Amino acid sequence: MRKGLVLTATIGILAATITFADQTSKVVIPAGKTAPNDARQMYTNYCAPCHGVDGKGKGPVAPAMKSSPTDLTQLTRNNHGKYPDTHVVAVLQFGSTLSSHGSAAMPVWGPIFGNMSRTNVQEKQLRISNLAHYLESIQQP
Ligand code: HEC
Repeated sequence: MRKGLVLTATIGILAATITFADQTSKVVIPAGKTAPNDARQMYTNYCAPCHGVDGKGKGPVAPAMKSSPTDLTQLTRNNHGKYPDTHVVAVLQFGSTLSSHGSAAMPVWGPIFGNMSRTNVQEKQLRISNLAHYLESIQQP
């Protein structure tokens, strides 16, 4: 059975740990199981619905959202040519700081990945750092 990540405050065991500003529309992302060392698979399952397979922010769920998902291929460009690794890791761990209203439209992944790997604390960090490296690999000038 596939587990679904339900991005509202009300449904699912994982929901309590997800902040999601877009309360008006219900965005459901089917979160299949992924290997912590397969960043591309994690990206495709967990990030592409909003950020798009190519990272440009035009995933299938994006039109339903109030705030547009960030173009993830421009992170280096928007940070004076240096890939913001520490920032990306912090965003994945603790959530985005971009939202001006306190509740970010970007799910907080740290607790979600934590729930996926309850028996292995290092696995959560592995998922986050592998995803951060994957994003570095899709940067465009
Ligand atoms: C439900 C839609 C959604 C999903 C799924 C999603 N994001 Fe986001 N993401 C957003 C939105 C919207 C923003 C814009 C920032 C905001 O409004 O909070 C964003 C912003 C970001 C940022 C930039 C934040 C900043 O402060 O600079 C990064 C990096 C990011 N996402 C990475 C990821 C990764 C990696 C995944 C998969 C593990 C992912 N996102 C999954 C919606 C999503």
